Amino acid sequence: MGGAGPWGCELRSERSSLLRGRETGFAPRMSQLENQVAVVTGAGRGIGRAIALRFAQAGADVVVVSRTVENSEKTAAEIRALGRKAWALAVDVSDPAAIATAAETVLQQAGRVDILVNNAGVTKDGLLMRMSESDWDTVLNTNLRGAFLFTKALTRTFLKQRSGRIINLASVIGLIGNAGQANYAASKAGLIGFTKSVAKEFGSRGVTCNAIAPGFIETDMTAALNEAQKEAILKQIPLGSLGQASDIAEAALYLAGPGGRYITGQVLTVDGGMVM
Ligand SMILES: NC(=O)c1ccc[n+]([C@@H]2O[C@H](COP(=O)([O-])OP(=O)(O)OC[C@H]3O[C@@H](n4cnc5c(N)ncnc54)[C@H](OP(=O)(O)O)[C@@H]3O)[C@@H](O)[C@H]2O)c1
Repeated sequence: MGGAGPWGCELRSERSSLLRGRETGFAPRMSQLENQVAVVTGAGRGIGRAIALRFAQAGADVVVVSRTVENSEKTAAEIRALGRKAWALAVDVSDPAAIATAAETVLQQAGRVDILVNNAGVTKDGLLMRMSESDWDTVLNTNLRGAFLFTKALTRTFLKQRSGRIINLASVIGLIGNAGQANYAASKAGLIGFTKSVAKEFGSRGVTCNAIAPGFIETDMTAALNEAQKEAILKQIPLGSLGQASDIAEAALYLAGPGGRYITGQVLTVDGGMVM
């Protein structure tokens, strides 16, 4: 099998490399999330949708949570078309009662939860001098309180199972701050502290908790940037382009899959080298 490749190394068929994987203890990369149940918030569009679809491709059944039923149904239909189960829930993650009901529904219908991705997020930008309390509260309640509420609602399940992966979508803005985004930066920096604390609290039960800090990713959230703003941002990115939702989905799959087994309490920056 195989032969000498252009660099003199041996080429192996996929089958033989999979067998080799078994011998060496490396998990095969196909179906990394086979038969696991993942809950992804904010999965109606953008990064959350990409994560939900990537997880389904990797073998997971997915609970699609978003604010609107239209968008959660749309993503759920795409997942079913991939041959996996999907449940569509319309939940406002800043509403504790709605989350409690959603968690109950998820556990009744899916039976278990192996992965939670706290991705739902919003921006309400403005200079501090003019920032209203309501814009502060909306951003903190969605981005930070929502992650706290969803994680808390599933805590008993994770601890009882003695396994689980929690992934929180932070942002490079939570690491470096940004003029006009005091509320958003505070919510994302808070999420990083939350991530590390949960990692320490849940570690002994085999549950990991990590954050992903995306840079500028092309989604509806960044669609409002004008060309001049995009040019200015691109100058700060060594890899020279904005990121795609799929770039974040691959990072999430790594943290949720077998490769992420021994990683907890970390912030994985996925930003083309913008912050280092
Ligand atoms: N795009 C970027 O450059 C970037 C960079 C760093 C971090 N992030 C973070 O990555 C995450 C996803 O961003 P994105 O760009 O994909 O955003 P997006 O395209 O604006 O999508 C946001 C998603 O969150 C949902 N959502 C918003 N508020 C919600 C609420 N209160 N309850 C439940 N769901 C809610 C939306 O639901 P509907 O679809 O039903 O409206 C939508 O599905 C956010 O946490 C964001 O802060 C993004």
